[in-house]
Amino acid sequence: MDYSKLLKKSGKTAKTVLVHCLQFGDTGKGKFVDFITSVWACIIVRATGGSNAGHTTCVNGKTSTNHLVPSGIVGDAEGKATVIGSGTAINPPDLTNELKILDLNKQSYNNLRIAYNAHLTTPAEIVMDRVLEVRAGKGKIGSTGKGIAQTYSDFIGRQGLILGDIINPNVFNVKLKRQLDYYRQILEGFDPELIAQIMNQESLGSGFYHSRPYMFDHEAIYEQYLVYGRELKPMISDTDAYIRSELGKSNILIEGSQGDLLDIEFGTYPFVTSSSCTVPGMARGCGLDMRDVDLSLGIFKGPIMSRVGCGPFVTEIGGEESDLWCNGGKANREMEERLYPDVTVNDSNEFRQGLAIRRIGKEYGATTTRPRRVGWLDLPSLRYSLELRFNSKNTIMTKVDVSNELKEINVCTQYEYQGPDYSFGDNRVLRYGARLNVAYPREEILRYCKPIYTTFPGWECSLEGCKTYDSLPQKLRQIIDPIIIMTSMNLRAISIGPDREETIIL
Ligand code: IMP
Repeated sequence: MDYSKLLKKSGKTAKTVLVHCLQFGDTGKGKFVDFITSVWACIIVRATGGSNAGHTTCVNGKTSTNHLVPSGIVGDAEGKATVIGSGTAINPPDLTNELKILDLNKQSYNNLRIAYNAHLTTPAEIVMDRVLEVRAGKGKIGSTGKGIAQTYSDFIGRQGLILGDIINPNVFNVKLKRQLDYYRQILEGFDPELIAQIMNQESLGSGFYHSRPYMFDHEAIYEQYLVYGRELKPMISDTDAYIRSELGKSNILIEGSQGDLLDIEFGTYPFVTSSSCTVPGMARGCGLDMRDVDLSLGIFKGPIMSRVGCGPFVTEIGGEESDLWCNGGKANREMEERLYPDVTVNDSNEFRQGLAIRRIGKEYGATTTRPRRVGWLDLPSLRYSLELRFNSKNTIMTKVDVSNELKEINVCTQYEYQGPDYSFGDNRVLRYGARLNVAYPREEILRYCKPIYTTFPGWECSLEGCKTYDSLPQKLRQIIDPIIIMTSMNLRAISIGPDREETIIL
């Protein structure tokens, strides 16, 4: 397979490549990062988000999941460098646990560098994140509970901590005290039992950081985080400067996390993550400018896509029933298998059909194990992502094989707006019955959008052994061709299975 074709732009091989997701994350970036690493990249960078992400790779039949460490870590043993950049949010217990798992798996991370100025996630921020989710009740975001929203809010609010603080004890002491005083005041208005319950969770030290009269035990947090600091210190450095010094010299791969529709500025607000996970944010998150990126590849899943967590999902199979089930807080893969052993992907009941597709696609959160909501490919939202000025039209379609057994495939080509008048100002009003080719990423609009589908016959066979576009079943090509035309994308590759080899480069 000629991977080098994928990395060319205007006939020239790019030096800095960025792989990102055009949808809601979980589109299989890990697989492409892994194989671009194996054939080309020298430096692999994770630039935004935190341990809310989960990147799964499958090499030689062995599956592994990374959260903060770049998926490109598989190349470490060959001397490739991996970087966790300054735009990321680092929760030291999560990161050190991940490193322990790498140790257990005998996976080298000798060449891992971590930005001293990455955002530090603290216990107080995690508590706040979880308290707010409980308080929001039905309006919850479906956060991963990793403190991401608070970490980035504190940064914007000019009171964030950085990773480098925990290797500078005096600086850390002062900043931590200031932060804990602030959160104590804010959290005083909340139920102390709820706070105690959250602080007793294992991921928050099982109560180790909790102090009844003062809420947070400054000493306990301070001492423990200095221990993390000592552990991480050999890997901590000024990675922004390092990346800049390698720009144009080494092959740099920036590995996206989350997706455009989850981006804090451009996503389906407020049901988004709190980092800037579009191309400019990722470039900034490792000390670069987006103009430094020679080639960006936008990944999307189709003809089945997914969303994990709450928020609008116009093409969800099983609609509200699926949303409630997936976000109810109890469902997981084992429970679904026990309660619904016999569902099929062609079930006439949409909720059951969605369950079966999820099972085949292994669509369960890599970080939270929550069931991912599944739905039909949504072209208005894909067009929206592709129209963002900083995105290129170069795309990769993934997980096509998940739909192998479907008798019929729906593709959403437009939305019909069925809500009250919505004014954009400037005499522009969205009225009931309007057809939309391009999504507006606002919850208050999307909640009233109904999908308009074109239905295609499924190809109903395995894609094993397909190596070229022409060798794909004709019925599948008859779905992909119109998708390319209707979105004006430049489709560069199609993934038809988890292994590196199960890829068609166009
Ligand atoms: P947070 O990032 O934990 O604050 O979660 C905010 C929203 O983003 C929730 O709906 C999460 O499910 C979603 N989210 C965060 N990270 C990922 C990811 O890596 N893949 C998919 N969804 C994510």
